[in-house]
Amino acid sequence: MLSKRKINKVKLLNNKKNFRLDKFIETALFGNNGYYLRNKPIGRKFDFVTSPEISQMFGEIIGVYLVYNWKEKINTKFNLIELGPGNGTLFKDIERTAKILPNFFKNANVKLIEINKELRKIQEKNLNYFKQSKIRWSKALNFKSKLPSIIYANEFFDCFPVRQFLNNNNNWFERYVKFNEKENKYYSINKRVISKKILNYLNEYKRQKIYEVSFSRNKYFNQICKYLKKNRGLCILIDYGYNKKLKSFTLQAIYNHKKTSIFENIGQQDISSHVNFNELIEIAKQNKLQINEFVTQRDFLLKYGILERKKKLLTKSINLNKNLLDEEVDRLINVDRMGNLFKCLVVSNL
Ligand SMILES: C[S@@+](CC[C@H](N)C(=O)[O-])C[C@H]1O[C@@H](n2cnc3c(N)ncnc32)[C@H](O)[C@@H]1O
Repeated sequence: MLSKRKINKVKLLNNKKNFRLDKFIETALFGNNGYYLRNKPIGRKFDFVTSPEISQMFGEIIGVYLVYNWKEKINTKFNLIELGPGNGTLFKDIERTAKILPNFFKNANVKLIEINKELRKIQEKNLNYFKQSKIRWSKALNFKSKLPSIIYANEFFDCFPVRQFLNNNNNWFERYVKFNEKENKYYSINKRVISKKILNYLNEYKRQKIYEVSFSRNKYFNQICKYLKKNRGLCILIDYGYNKKLKSFTLQAIYNHKKTSIFENIGQQDISSHVNFNELIEIAKQNKLQINEFVTQRDFLLKYGILERKKKLLTKSINLNKNLLDEEVDRLINVDRMGNLFKCLVVSNL
């Protein structure tokens, strides 16, 4: 049961009798009392640990990939854009790696897209060794520049709110959220879908029992694709996600490293969902972009040399603990850990 204080906060989420699941998630994450306004959600001590926080090798491999693609296919002034930089750790590792080709950062207009004021402060602090004047922060992507762009993101698209639909003998229902005044808690209800537009859309999925979709995620990615198409560039996304038919919904909440209900600890816990990569690939194709890579995190990191990098680190520094590095790599690439669940998608028109 939530405390009175928490409930009062929660009630600010929405006064309507019932509201769509995605609106609930959006407010719980990004509203005035939303989770992403909290200080420091990412890191070993906090709710979740991301790949860059697990190992410097993750960012180094991405860094080499970006530098190589820039040198071979852009080699001129460009926008380097990170979506949702968290603590700034991935940027730091890429920046260090890119020293192998100083022209990369000399030509880069760096933009960090961060919605969370607290995380932005952390990024400013963690990246203050890098010339601050070279970095521009923004809450949202703007598409004004005419330069080619390299856009990258790790665990960004899983933050977008989803809608959930259930198919009962070709009658579609959508999940809504309701607040029970007596019991002081939220719960979900299913409402029959009557919108013709949505029913037409769902018709494509009539063989499925359930369908989960983030229209806002798809829209955001579509804008990126259009931008790349117009001004040239490449986008690399790493996230947990799938490319098969869903057997169960993927929406989840994490509190103190444990899975919970999305209706508990509202505003204090992370809510995320797996990314439907099929939809992103389809959007990229509709925009006539190439799919340069669509592989598991394991395959991407192996292909671009994480094992070689580990060896090199061990021969370069006697202070590094082999077991620790083995554990870091295992966590990133083991099929039972992050290796298969996380996917890497690269789209471009380079
Ligand atoms: C799960 S964290 C991942 C952080 C980092 N990329 C990492 O791998 O450690 C998601 C990040 O994206 C930011 N974020 C989420 N949704 C966003 C949005 N719509 N616009 C801008 N930033 C957003 C969050 O504040 C946070 O920095």
